[in-house]
Amino acid sequence: MMKPIHILNGPNLNLLGKRQPEIYGRETLDDVAAACAALGAELGVVTEFHQSNHEGEIVEMIHRARDQAAAIIINPAAYTHTSVAILDALHAFEGPVFEVHISNVHKRESFRHHSYVSLRADGVIAGCGTEGYLLALRRAVSLLRG
Ligand code: DQA
Repeated sequence: MMKPIHILNGPNLNLLGKRQPEIYGRETLDDVAAACAALGAELGVVTEFHQSNHEGEIVEMIHRARDQAAAIIINPAAYTHTSVAILDALHAFEGPVFEVHISNVHKRESFRHHSYVSLRADGVIAGCGTEGYLLALRRAVSLLRG
C-alpha cells in the first residue's frame, strides 16, 4: 500500500470560494479536499489535505511528509514567490513534488511570475482552476506507480 499523498495549501486559501471568486472561483477548500479524497479513493491512494496561513507551519508540514508521504502536492499561495524556507524544506523531501496554482500566475502581476518552489517541483500546473489539484494527483500516482 502506497503512503498517503499530502496536499498542502498556503495563506489565504482557507478563504477559497469567498476571496476574489472572479480569479479563484466559488469552490471552497473543503470542496477541493473532498474532490481529492474521492479521486484518491478511485485511484487507490489516501490523500491528506492541510492548509496554513503561517510559513513555519508549512515548513513543519513538509518535514512531517518526509516520513509520512509518498508525494507532496503544494499550492504555496503567496509564499510561492517569497519563501526560500519552503523551497529548502521541499529539497529535504525525497519524493515527487507538484506545484499547483488555481490561477494562471503568468497572466497576472510580474511578481507572481517567479516561483522559488518551481526550482524543486517535478511538475507545475497553473491556470486550470481547482481541477489542477486533481491533475497533479493523477500525475503523482502515475509517476509513483511507474
Ligand atoms: C495562487 C497564486 C498566488 O500568486 C497567490 O498569492 C495565491 C494563490 C493560485 O492558486 O493561483 O494566493 O497560488
